[in-house]
Amino acid sequence: MLAEVAARPFEDEHSDILGPPVSSPNQMAPANAALIDELDRIAPLLRPTPLVPVNVPGVHLFAKLEYANPVGSVKDRTAYWILRRAAERGDIDERSTIIESSSGNFACALAVYAKLLGLPFIPVVDPNILPTYESFLRRLCATVVKVDVPDESGGYLKTRLRVVKELCDTTPHAFWTNQYGNLDGPDAHYRTTAEEICRDLPHLDYAFIGVSSGGTIAGMSRRLKEHFPEIKIIAVDAVGSAIFGGAPRTRHIPGLGAGIVSPLVSQAHIDDVVMISERATAQACRDLLWQHGLLVGGSSGTAFAAAMQYTAARPVSPTPTAVFLCSDRGTPYLDTVFNDEWITRLE
Ligand SMILES: Cc1ncc(COP(=O)(O)O)c(C=O)c1O
Repeated sequence: MLAEVAARPFEDEHSDILGPPVSSPNQMAPANAALIDELDRIAPLLRPTPLVPVNVPGVHLFAKLEYANPVGSVKDRTAYWILRRAAERGDIDERSTIIESSSGNFACALAVYAKLLGLPFIPVVDPNILPTYESFLRRLCATVVKVDVPDESGGYLKTRLRVVKELCDTTPHAFWTNQYGNLDGPDAHYRTTAEEICRDLPHLDYAFIGVSSGGTIAGMSRRLKEHFPEIKIIAVDAVGSAIFGGAPRTRHIPGLGAGIVSPLVSQAHIDDVVMISERATAQACRDLLWQHGLLVGGSSGTAFAAAMQYTAARPVSPTPTAVFLCSDRGTPYLDTVFNDEWITRLE
């Protein structure tokens, strides 16, 4: 039974939502055929991720373990799906160079999937990147561009996007995956992340979803609202992020937040917003590890803190059911969020 379950690939698990396999050689441009074959070959890597209960008072809380994706984060889905759709449309072929601005997880996922496709990938990163992620990218990518000039918000996003534009203008056959504007990103989460939750839970009152590009919440909120019409979608952001109108300021924990408002955020169905300080994020990461046995990264702690704070302030009967995402693993954060000396710098 176990072997049978383990052998079921992502495409089979999601066959009704993904539609027919991408391979259909008659319709594909010859330059794309090998890419499409490779995308088909790696599709079974992406399986539904576990949804596990987290035992806390006042709420039936479930953590969706997105770090169980093959490269280690929620961004695996975004990266695979954007490349797949781009190949299907003929927007990339074997001559393409993939270019993207990312402070970590999306770049790591793209680095692996681009390599499997035999395509060069140039990530544009900034000094906030976790050292583990930078080492990873430097091992996989011939070129890593690291910007060092902050933009007017104190972050680096606008600088990174300016560099991406320059690279796209000067690199032959450049393809910018554009996680801040590409609707294929939300589509990945509509079709898979949220769909898996719809299948796993009979009822859901709240989903706490962290926001940066807004791709995850845009896709998930639409699907969850369709399936659970009464659900409240709670956007979770970091104090110091500009996404929901706060004054931007320097932040230290990568993952959530942004110095600009991504257009994808306007595609999301958001009922409420919770802002969490970086200090509360670090404490929540520690609580998840020491009290619940989950070694997870910064944004997981932010979402967990939001779920605890929000539901504690609104006690209801019967006990509500809520879900939050553990978007990546805690290991790369051991020297930051889990380091007593490092967290003294947080507000
Ligand atoms: C760890 C982590 N959590 C959450 C997010 C936010 O996801 P999105 O960009 O889809 O809003 C990111 C984005 O990079 C991330 O790396």
